[in-house]
Amino acid sequence: MSATTPEAAQPTFARHPLRLTLNAQDRQFEVLPWTTLLDLLREQLDLIGTKKGCDHGQCGACTVLLNGKRVNACLTLAVMCDGGELITIEGLATGDELHPMQQAFIKHDAFQCGYCTPGQICSAVGLVNEGRAHTPDEIRELMSGNLCRCGAYSNIRDAIEEALPACLQLGQGGGR
Ligand code: FES
Ligand code: FES
Repeated sequence: MSATTPEAAQPTFARHPLRLTLNAQDRQFEVLPWTTLLDLLREQLDLIGTKKGCDHGQCGACTVLLNGKRVNACLTLAVMCDGGELITIEGLATGDELHPMQQAFIKHDAFQCGYCTPGQICSAVGLVNEGRAHTPDEIRELMSGNLCRCGAYSNIRDAIEEALPACLQLGQGGGR
Protein backbone atom coordinates (compact mmCIF):
# COMPACT_ATOMS: atom_id res chain seq x y z
CA MET A 1 0.00 0.00 0.00
CA SER A 2 1.48 3.34 -1.03
CA ALA A 3 1.81 6.11 1.52
CA THR A 4 -0.32 9.23 1.07
CA THR A 5 1.69 12.43 0.75
CA PRO A 6 0.62 15.50 2.71
CA GLU A 7 0.08 17.30 -0.62
CA ALA A 8 -2.30 14.60 -1.82
CA ALA A 9 -4.22 14.78 1.46
CA GLN A 10 -4.79 18.51 1.09
CA PRO A 11 -6.39 19.23 -2.28
CA THR A 12 -6.35 22.81 -3.43
CA PHE A 13 -9.53 24.57 -4.43
CA ALA A 14 -9.90 27.24 -7.06
CA ARG A 15 -10.48 30.72 -5.71
CA HIS A 16 -12.89 33.01 -7.50
CA PRO A 17 -12.21 36.64 -8.32
CA LEU A 18 -14.53 39.09 -6.64
CA ARG A 19 -14.93 42.80 -7.25
CA LEU A 20 -16.79 44.95 -4.78
CA THR A 21 -17.35 48.57 -4.01
CA LEU A 22 -16.90 48.19 -0.29
CA ASN A 23 -17.70 51.25 1.80
CA ALA A 24 -17.08 53.48 -1.23
CA GLN A 25 -13.77 51.87 -2.17
CA ASP A 26 -13.21 49.63 -5.16
CA ARG A 27 -11.76 46.38 -3.92
CA GLN A 28 -10.74 43.07 -5.48
CA PHE A 29 -10.45 39.76 -3.72
CA GLU A 30 -10.11 36.08 -4.36
CA VAL A 31 -12.47 33.91 -2.39
CA LEU A 32 -13.29 30.25 -2.04
CA PRO A 33 -16.69 29.42 -3.49
CA TRP A 34 -18.18 28.60 -0.10
CA THR A 35 -16.92 31.67 1.76
CA THR A 36 -19.83 33.64 3.16
CA LEU A 37 -19.93 37.39 2.95
CA LEU A 38 -19.84 37.46 6.74
CA ASP A 39 -16.64 35.43 6.93
CA LEU A 40 -15.06 37.51 4.18
CA LEU A 41 -15.79 40.69 6.14
CA ARG A 42 -14.80 39.47 9.56
CA GLU A 43 -12.02 36.97 8.93
CA GLN A 44 -10.35 38.21 5.75
CA LEU A 45 -10.96 41.96 5.91
CA ASP A 46 -11.06 42.48 9.68
CA LEU A 47 -14.33 44.40 9.38
CA ILE A 48 -15.63 43.05 12.66
CA GLY A 49 -18.39 45.61 13.12
CA THR A 50 -20.65 43.15 11.34
CA LYS A 51 -21.50 40.56 13.99
CA LYS A 52 -21.94 36.82 13.87
CA GLY A 53 -24.84 35.79 16.06
CA CYS A 54 -26.62 32.65 14.92
CA ASP A 55 -24.82 32.18 11.56
CA HIS A 56 -28.14 30.75 10.32
CA GLY A 57 -30.19 33.74 9.17
CA GLN A 58 -32.23 33.95 12.34
CA CYS A 59 -30.94 36.93 14.35
CA GLY A 60 -30.03 39.73 11.92
CA ALA A 61 -26.77 40.59 13.70
CA CYS A 62 -24.91 40.23 10.40
CA THR A 63 -27.10 42.61 8.38
CA VAL A 64 -25.28 44.70 5.78
CA LEU A 65 -26.43 46.70 2.76
CA LEU A 66 -25.88 45.18 -0.66
CA ASN A 67 -26.89 47.53 -3.47
CA GLY A 68 -28.92 49.45 -0.90
CA LYS A 69 -30.86 46.39 0.27
CA ARG A 70 -30.42 44.74 3.64
CA VAL A 71 -29.11 41.21 3.50
CA ASN A 72 -27.96 38.67 6.03
CA ALA A 73 -24.25 38.32 5.38
CA CYS A 74 -24.20 34.86 6.96
CA LEU A 75 -26.58 33.56 4.30
CA THR A 76 -24.90 35.31 1.38
CA LEU A 77 -22.00 33.74 -0.45
CA ALA A 78 -19.29 36.27 -1.16
CA VAL A 79 -19.16 35.28 -4.85
CA MET A 80 -22.83 36.27 -5.17
CA CYS A 81 -21.85 39.88 -4.47
CA ASP A 82 -19.53 40.28 -7.45
CA GLY A 83 -19.85 43.75 -8.94
CA GLY A 84 -22.05 44.94 -6.09
CA GLU A 85 -21.96 47.92 -3.78
CA LEU A 86 -21.60 46.86 -0.19
CA ILE A 87 -21.96 49.06 2.87
CA THR A 88 -21.18 47.82 6.34
CA ILE A 89 -21.56 49.62 9.64
CA GLU A 90 -18.00 50.91 9.18
CA GLY A 91 -19.08 52.73 6.01
CA LEU A 92 -22.15 54.58 7.21
CA ALA A 93 -20.51 57.60 8.78
CA THR A 94 -18.91 60.38 6.76
CA GLY A 95 -15.58 60.99 8.42
CA ASP A 96 -16.35 62.04 11.98
CA GLU A 97 -20.00 62.72 11.18
CA LEU A 98 -22.27 59.86 12.09
CA HIS A 99 -25.12 58.78 9.86
CA PRO A 100 -28.48 60.14 11.15
CA MET A 101 -29.52 56.61 12.05
CA GLN A 102 -26.38 56.17 14.17
CA GLN A 103 -27.01 59.53 15.86
CA ALA A 104 -30.60 58.55 16.62
CA PHE A 105 -29.54 55.24 18.18
CA ILE A 106 -27.21 57.12 20.51
CA LYS A 107 -29.79 59.78 21.34
CA HIS A 108 -32.45 57.19 22.20
CA ASP A 109 -30.08 54.88 24.03
CA ALA A 110 -31.17 52.14 21.65
CA PHE A 111 -28.72 49.49 22.83
CA GLN A 112 -27.37 47.86 25.92
CA CYS A 113 -24.61 45.34 25.19
CA GLY A 114 -24.40 46.60 21.61
CA TYR A 115 -23.92 43.24 19.96
CA CYS A 116 -27.01 43.49 17.77
CA THR A 117 -26.57 47.21 17.12
CA PRO A 118 -24.58 47.24 13.85
CA GLY A 119 -27.12 44.88 12.33
CA GLN A 120 -30.02 46.91 13.72
CA ILE A 121 -28.64 50.13 12.27
CA CYS A 122 -27.85 48.66 8.85
CA SER A 123 -31.27 47.04 8.77
CA ALA A 124 -32.93 50.32 9.72
CA VAL A 125 -31.07 52.12 6.95
CA GLY A 126 -32.22 49.43 4.52
CA LEU A 127 -35.74 49.88 5.82
CA VAL A 128 -35.59 53.55 4.90
CA ASN A 129 -34.50 52.59 1.39
CA GLU A 130 -37.51 50.27 1.10
CA GLY A 131 -39.86 53.17 1.82
CA ARG A 132 -42.39 50.92 3.52
CA ALA A 133 -42.21 51.95 7.16
CA HIS A 134 -44.24 55.00 8.17
CA THR A 135 -45.69 54.15 11.56
CA PRO A 136 -44.23 52.69 14.79
CA ASP A 137 -46.17 49.47 14.14
CA GLU A 138 -44.75 49.19 10.62
CA ILE A 139 -41.24 49.83 11.93
CA ARG A 140 -41.69 47.13 14.57
CA GLU A 141 -43.01 44.63 12.02
CA LEU A 142 -40.39 45.34 9.36
CA MET A 143 -37.54 45.22 11.87
CA SER A 144 -38.70 41.90 13.30
CA GLY A 145 -35.82 40.03 11.65
CA ASN A 146 -33.34 41.80 13.92
CA LEU A 147 -33.34 40.32 17.39
CA CYS A 148 -32.06 42.05 20.51
CA ARG A 149 -31.37 39.83 23.47
CA CYS A 150 -31.17 42.90 25.71
CA GLY A 151 -34.72 43.85 24.81
CA ALA A 152 -33.99 47.40 23.67
CA TYR A 153 -36.81 47.18 21.14
CA SER A 154 -38.84 50.22 22.18
CA ASN A 155 -35.76 52.46 22.11
CA ILE A 156 -34.71 51.02 18.75
CA ARG A 157 -38.15 51.73 17.34
CA ASP A 158 -38.09 55.28 18.71
CA ALA A 159 -34.65 55.90 17.19
CA ILE A 160 -35.73 54.67 13.78
CA GLU A 161 -38.93 56.68 13.90
CA GLU A 162 -36.99 59.85 14.63
CA ALA A 163 -34.28 59.20 12.04
CA LEU A 164 -36.67 58.41 9.19
CA PRO A 165 -37.20 62.01 8.01
CA ALA A 166 -33.50 62.88 8.17
CA CYS A 167 -32.57 59.73 6.26
CA LEU A 168 -35.24 60.39 3.65
CA GLN A 169 -33.92 63.94 3.30
CA LEU A 170 -30.54 62.51 2.45
CA GLY A 171 -32.25 60.81 -0.47
CA GLN A 172 -31.14 57.37 0.59
CA GLY A 173 -30.58 55.25 3.61
CA GLY A 174 -27.12 53.96 2.85
CA GLY A 175 -23.69 55.56 2.79
CA ARG A 176 -23.36 59.18 1.92
FE1 FES B 1 -26.63 36.14 10.30
FE2 FES B 1 -27.70 35.64 12.70
S1 FES B 1 -25.58 35.83 12.15
S2 FES B 1 -28.73 36.17 10.84
FE1 FES C 1 -27.61 43.65 23.46
FE2 FES C 1 -29.25 44.19 21.43
S1 FES C 1 -28.22 45.61 22.70
S2 FES C 1 -28.43 42.28 21.98
